Amino acid sequence: MKYKSVLVTRRGGLEAVRIVENELHSPLAGEARIRVLATPVCQDDVAIRLGKRPFLKKPPFTPGYTCIGTVEAVGENVTEVAVGDRVAALTQYGCHAEIIYWDAAELVHVPETLDPAEATTLILNYLVAYQILHRVAQVKPGDKALIIGASGGGGTAFLQLGQLAGLKMYGLASASKHAILTGYGAAPIDYHRQDFVEVIRQTEPGGLDYVFNGMGEEYFERSLSILKRGGKLIHYGGPQSFTRFLLLVVKLIFYNLLPNGKTIIGYGTHRLGTDLFKEDWARLFELLAAGQIKPIIAKTLPILDAVTAYEMLESGSVTGNIVLLAPELQQI
Ligand SMILES: NC(=O)c1ccc[n+]([C@@H]2O[C@H](COP(=O)([O-])OP(=O)(O)OC[C@H]3O[C@@H](n4cnc5c(N)ncnc54)[C@H](OP(=O)(O)O)[C@@H]3O)[C@@H](O)[C@H]2O)c1
Repeated sequence: MKYKSVLVTRRGGLEAVRIVENELHSPLAGEARIRVLATPVCQDDVAIRLGKRPFLKKPPFTPGYTCIGTVEAVGENVTEVAVGDRVAALTQYGCHAEIIYWDAAELVHVPETLDPAEATTLILNYLVAYQILHRVAQVKPGDKALIIGASGGGGTAFLQLGQLAGLKMYGLASASKHAILTGYGAAPIDYHRQDFVEVIRQTEPGGLDYVFNGMGEEYFERSLSILKRGGKLIHYGGPQSFTRFLLLVVKLIFYNLLPNGKTIIGYGTHRLGTDLFKEDWARLFELLAAGQIKPIIAKTLPILDAVTAYEMLESGSVTGNIVLLAPELQQI
């Protein structure tokens, strides 16, 4: 028996992406074999192919940061999940495939009542936003925040969870995407045409409590300038190269040494660990089930049509999330 997966054969553009066939095998001890139902496409899936991240796997590799699927087989000593369970995984690589093998201890059960396309966006984008808002920043109602990169998969998760937390929000986004920000009660700023520092200084002369930055370290100085004393800049954008990573670290140290009462905190999903992920995913599943959050699914495509999805994401035209689906879900 065989299954298909997306394969990045070398660093480069979309011409480096192939669909390949692989032999299905039994899972190893401690592992589960999962048939992928839904897997989102995020900026890091594109960046790892282009080589725009430090510490990358060498090609060939299958992209796909997270997925939801059904356990099809389990290896020896697996007690955490059973055949037929609906589970999710945060794998960083490998989810853009019909099948993925993953450590059973790292899987989380997903309620079958949830729409897999919506639920799969919770595993990375909403997890990041939730952990930054509630574990790192510990926001409270009325706090004032700017979201940089507010219209994308990660940004719209911040908007929804920020609205739920009672924040007063500002967001940077292209003008064509402003309606989505106002829909969540955020004041949009078109960073292509407006100087966001000027806008915030005029509307919030006392400064902001938080800036959530999903872009690069080039936003540090301007973000710090609009924070009030005691304010925090929380940075979660992936650095584009090893040099940019070093620059990021140097800037993090330098700006935190300045006696201005402002702090920069770097967030990465590796920082908080699987136990806290599971706790936060459970909370996010509850919020989705209760209709308190509703991920924006800009487009769904078949898993093996990943190239179209990468192209759409790279074009910058997407508001919200693109999700790849198994054929049986895509036909619905
Ligand atoms: N640290 C972590 O664990 C973690 C996890 C997930 C994601 N991330 C990071 O989060 C970031 C966003 O990822 P994503 O998947 O949400 O991306 P996405 O869906 O592609 O959204 C990014 C959006 O940012 C906007 N943008 C692009 N360049 C910009 C700029 N220079 N200034 C302001 N906005 C800009 C674009 O919208 P407009 O047209 O509106 O400008 C774009 O749609 C990436 O840097 C990724 O590495 C980090």
